Amino acid sequence: MPQPALSRTLMTGALRAAFDDDRDADTFALRLDRYGPELLASLQAAYGEQAEPLLAQLLEVMLHAYHTRPADLKRLDEARLLTPDWLQRPDTVGYVAYTDRFAGTLKGVQGHLPYLEDLGVTYLHLMPLLSPRPGENDGGYAVQDYRAVRDDLGSMDDLSALAADLRARGMSLVLDLVLNHVAQEHEWAQRARAGDPTYRAYFHIYPDRTEPDAYERTLPEVFPDFAPGNFTWDDAAQGWVWTTFNTYQWDLNWSNPDVLREFVDIILHLANRGVEVFRLDAIAFLWKRLGTDCQNQPEVHHLTRALRACARIVAPAVAFKAEAIVAPTDLIHYLGTRDHHGKVSDMAYHNSLMVQLWSSLASRDTRLFTQALSAFPPKPTNTTWGVYVRCHDDIGWAISDADTNAVGLSGPGHRHFLSDFYSGEYPGTFARGLVFQFNPQTGDRRISGTLASLAGLEAALHTGHPQAVDHAVRRILLLHAVILAFGGVPLLYMGDELALLNDHAFADTPEHAADNRWVHRPRMDWTRAQDAARDAGTPHGRVNAGLRHLIHARRVLPHLHASIESRPLPSPDPCVLLLRRDHPQGTFLGVYNFSEHTIQFPAHVLRDVLGEHAVDHVAGSAFSFGGQPVLLEPYRALWLTAGTGPLG
Ligand code: GLC
Repeated sequence: MPQPALSRTLMTGALRAAFDDDRDADTFALRLDRYGPELLASLQAAYGEQAEPLLAQLLEVMLHAYHTRPADLKRLDEARLLTPDWLQRPDTVGYVAYTDRFAGTLKGVQGHLPYLEDLGVTYLHLMPLLSPRPGENDGGYAVQDYRAVRDDLGSMDDLSALAADLRARGMSLVLDLVLNHVAQEHEWAQRARAGDPTYRAYFHIYPDRTEPDAYERTLPEVFPDFAPGNFTWDDAAQGWVWTTFNTYQWDLNWSNPDVLREFVDIILHLANRGVEVFRLDAIAFLWKRLGTDCQNQPEVHHLTRALRACARIVAPAVAFKAEAIVAPTDLIHYLGTRDHHGKVSDMAYHNSLMVQLWSSLASRDTRLFTQALSAFPPKPTNTTWGVYVRCHDDIGWAISDADTNAVGLSGPGHRHFLSDFYSGEYPGTFARGLVFQFNPQTGDRRISGTLASLAGLEAALHTGHPQAVDHAVRRILLLHAVILAFGGVPLLYMGDELALLNDHAFADTPEHAADNRWVHRPRMDWTRAQDAARDAGTPHGRVNAGLRHLIHARRVLPHLHASIESRPLPSPDPCVLLLRRDHPQGTFLGVYNFSEHTIQFPAHVLRDVLGEHAVDHVAGSAFSFGGQPVLLEPYRALWLTAGTGPLG
């Protein structure tokens, strides 16, 4: 058989001899041949003639990581190569938690794994836990050391032990990879501040305002309130440092190949500790280009493709999730289009879905939702969405004017309404939230608040009105019903399974006081968890039981595999959202009433999609679509498949 090109040229005799085992050498060579060409092509696109020396350096890094990869992880690599759809399956359930807020320490998390197993969790995202700067650190997104765990949470060995325990239970460990910036206390920044030219070149440091001002002309502001502007003067560095987020988060200069090499090393190091999914934090911001908003630049996708190729060669069990909170037409590229199809992130957050859930809940109108989803570009079939109702961040009203105009709404007007509604200012609103980052220039007001408080439970418990409580519980379950049947990894946000309310005491912690996103990052309430498990009659117990029931119903529905898209259907009733999935096993139709009214829904609409008979997998009931309308109670969700049996 002719020797494939890359391994022949790169894996010379000495390199081959570095393997104890021929089979290992062959595996590495085969993967290098498979992913090497795209790695080289992306390095060339980003770094031009620096690509080849960089490839040689990366080869060293990869070989080292390959040799030190533990045997059980190598076995996982083989298993994953046999199940490339592992993140698309309907029994995949994600859970997102802060280690300290969930269980104190990493060892504490290990102690609570039975709770997660019982909930059906297969994917555990622990919020940033690598050693952050002291004091304010943006919830851990200002990393000081990527090779150490935050002191009070445990050690790297605890992390490996937790990862192994998770693996044994069929759960994957997911960690953030903060790659746009490091803490100003990180060793690289410290060396840059000390004047070392190698490390100054890791950052964007300008001697005066000329270049910062030129960039600012087209740059948006991420934190206009507590960190206005995108550059920060640093005395030690004697220059203006690019700081997109907080002043203490120094943006890395990814046009420097050394930065890429460092991150390949970090990714493989963490992968060998057992991290299976990397959340690529703020990935859209990596590449700067004058005259643009410095987001979504083509090089970002080349960088991701290069990082992924390295991960595939050494640790194919690893997957990437893009955290790109950008417009749908930009977002789709993070899942790989054209030459990058199947070669960048395996998963991306579906921010638009989350925003539309809240928009329809406030307006009791799903037309904008239907419009936004219809305008959404199709995703590659081998990728998946991260679908969620709430996360640790605020909700920004990412709704395009094109979509609002298409349904006869004004974009600014609707966004204004949503901010009023969820900050609790709108007359008659059920929501209790806080305004995050008011931007007087654009009028934007983003929103903080827990799922339960935004969905009305806080206000309802305050008034004690039973119907208001009932509606709040139904809203929480409705939103989960939509994401669980959408196709993707549902990312349950810690505490939402118990309907935890806003933590109004967040400001008592000095380093959290200025950032009201902490209002929706409460501590886990284990007493409430026990009570909820014992008594399914309380609102918290109802949410918990309802959610468990949905998760259970979902896992046996092959129609919900994420290779299939959910497509919105025109609905004769604006309160009702219809999402159709055409799976080879049959058609699935999600029917969701976004209002507190009982809707008489025309049966013929459902019959046209499903035929005469259908089963609702939420309530387990059968339907025959005759002349009578189908009654949809307040906030009712139906998961329908055709026929009379469990699989339609
Ligand atoms: C991401 C995180 C957010 C953080 C930012 C900067 O958007 O989700 O919490 O503030 O990145 O790292």
